[in-house]
Amino acid sequence: MSVPHVIPYQGSKRKLAPQILDYVQHEVKGTVYEPFAGSAAITLAAAASEIGTSYVIGDKFAPLIDLWELIIDKPDYVADNYSKIWNAQLDDPKSYFLEIRKQFNEAQDPVQFLYLVARCVKNAIRFNANGEFNQSADNRRLGMKPEKVSKESYAISSILKGKTSVIAGDFMEVLKNAGPDDLVYMDPPWQGTSLKKDPRYAYLLDLDELVGGLAELNERGVPYLLSFDGTCGDKSYGKELPEFLQLEKVGLNAGRSSQAILLGRDDVTIESLYISPAMAEKNSKQTKNREQIKLFA
Ligand SMILES: C[S@@+](CC[C@H](N)C(=O)[O-])C[C@H]1O[C@@H](n2cnc3c(N)ncnc32)[C@H](O)[C@@H]1O
Repeated sequence: MSVPHVIPYQGSKRKLAPQILDYVQHEVKGTVYEPFAGSAAITLAAAASEIGTSYVIGDKFAPLIDLWELIIDKPDYVADNYSKIWNAQLDDPKSYFLEIRKQFNEAQDPVQFLYLVARCVKNAIRFNANGEFNQSADNRRLGMKPEKVSKESYAISSILKGKTSVIAGDFMEVLKNAGPDDLVYMDPPWQGTSLKKDPRYAYLLDLDELVGGLAELNERGVPYLLSFDGTCGDKSYGKELPEFLQLEKVGLNAGRSSQAILLGRDDVTIESLYISPAMAEKNSKQTKNREQIKLFA
């Protein structure tokens, strides 16, 4: 099944989702949690391939979560309102973007947020010190067409409606009910991108908080996969995670970065994926079971 996708979000794991989900080698009987959801690429890919029986989409950025709620429960509302906003820009897209940005910063309307993400430079949301959206428009493009937003929103609603909860909040709050039968995928903002003056995402990552949260999930026996740090050519970002967490690290081939393509370089970006101890155990049990079934077949 093809995987629908409606929020063009810089850093989306849409392309990497099949490689990430390859590391889910056991049957997930419970809920798939994505507490740093952004465009919720893993939830969408998991739901499309029927991994898990229900889903939790969480993010600290409330307007994004309001948008997810509308996409899932009221795709008609998203389609109609996006179409109105998008079409109204056609006479003067440049100043219209600035007007919508101003209105969004006052009232946090979720569909206006979708329009801003779709039209801004590199689809990279940026905020000033007051938490106001301050990214500029990419004036070479008008943003995703309304027909596409409509089609994708309906497709998403059809796979997630009735089985998905959305939560605006810190990742550990989102994960408070997660247990050993569930699966958690985490993609916190990288240190390399979140500690700059103009942070890419709405909130900065506190590394100690992340490590503390991972330790608690280990204690609770929650299986999780974590995307964190990475390397590109000879550059590496982020820190190694502490050994006591007992995470297994694997490298995913994320292809050539747009920067490398621009410079005509061959550097391939390798993204790290960490597998939690509970996850590794579930996967190895499943492999053993399969081997036994083969042996007795
Ligand atoms: C790297 S992006 C996730 C991208 C996502 N994997 C995708 O496919 O689009 C990180 C997200 O985490 C959110 N975030 C940052 N700090 C958070 C926190 N403490 N708890 C929950 N979400 C947080 C940001 O708002 C951002 O949407």
